[in-house]
Amino acid sequence: MSNPSLLILAGDGIGPEVMNEVKRIITWYGDKRDMPFDVTEDLVGGCAYDKHGTPLHDDTMAKAQEVDAVLLGAVGGPKYDDLDFSVKPERGLLRLRKEMDLFSNLRPAQCFDALADFSSLKRDIVAGLDIMIVRELTSGVYFGEPRGIHVEGNERVGVNTQRYTESEIARVARSAFELARRRNNKVCSMEKANVMESGVLWRQVVTEIHEKEYSDVQLSHMYADNGAMQLVRNPKQFDVIVTDNLFGDLLSDAAAMLTGSLGMLPSASLGLPMANGRPKALYEPVHGSAPDITGQGKANPIACILSFAMALRYSFDAGAEADRLEAAVEKVLADGARTADLLGPEGGSPISTTEMGDAILAALD
Ligand code: NAI
Ligand code: MG
Repeated sequence: MSNPSLLILAGDGIGPEVMNEVKRIITWYGDKRDMPFDVTEDLVGGCAYDKHGTPLHDDTMAKAQEVDAVLLGAVGGPKYDDLDFSVKPERGLLRLRKEMDLFSNLRPAQCFDALADFSSLKRDIVAGLDIMIVRELTSGVYFGEPRGIHVEGNERVGVNTQRYTESEIARVARSAFELARRRNNKVCSMEKANVMESGVLWRQVVTEIHEKEYSDVQLSHMYADNGAMQLVRNPKQFDVIVTDNLFGDLLSDAAAMLTGSLGMLPSASLGLPMANGRPKALYEPVHGSAPDITGQGKANPIACILSFAMALRYSFDAGAEADRLEAAVEKVLADGARTADLLGPEGGSPISTTEMGDAILAALD
């Protein structure tokens, strides 16, 4: 059997810097855990535009469709701000998500004990927090037609349409229930069925899928505005939350900040299973290319490293190896290792991107 395959698209800004540390960890898994990966590297975003005049070359897109998982760093930067919308770096990422049909976006909010005081909430409320928001990523109001700005009478009108088909709701619901079975068997679905028909259908379809296929999982429903309040009031009541594209955008950003720095946040975007049973998958840190710290060795590589841990868990069925990597991160944080973004108001001396990688590799050993 051939080795599992990875396509690495490090991208722009700090993307290559944080990805370097991930590459060392991938090598470690090959050497020390007998888990060799076939790694290919290519360009995405501004660096792809510089070379090919497009933020994602067709050949790169084709490779992304073939591999078991794509790991992405970050795209964009001030150099590309004035480019035409059609070739902006972000378009490379959007094309990957769209053509791979990555409809299920997994955003964990996990509080590492060593960083609990970093939260804007009290330690008790966030310590031990480990929840997963599943956001529908390819439909809803960001894509619905009609859309646009037109003139009615003597004023302009802006229009977007929230639209969900039954099958779109069903597939993201299944993805959340499957995830719940691997975690704590608990899903909370959020919409606004009180004021939106798309929310009524959402609730119906989630309930039907639950009854027919996942009755072993505990399901609850919540209006998304209440969900926002509950996330801040008592986030530990949740385990898996499933919601639409717009609410998921807001709720996942809010939930992420319960736990501290942008430099710590991984994500996964999953699609339908491929012939080998693995889902189409793209793993990337939540942060961007951080032009303000690029090239200074200050970037925190943990978000990108935890994204690789998600790949181990969700693409390669290596949950125990993902646990091992997460435990190594937990250990170095507990030992006091801090990149600059993880220093609180009391300060301290930060370590570099590479030193954080060194520490995590040492903890793995
Ligand atoms: P950003 O996430 O790049 O940076 C926001 C702030 O967080 C900056 O002060 C940055 O230094 C800090 N930061 C981010 N990641 C960090 C890390 N790993 N370690 C330490 N500090 C970190 O967001 P911003 O500044 O709004 O956007 C910068 C560029 O990135 C833009 O061109 C934007 O379009 C692009 N972007 C790309 C994304 C992606 O590739 N998925 C997502 C968000 C923004
Ligand atoms: Mg957002």
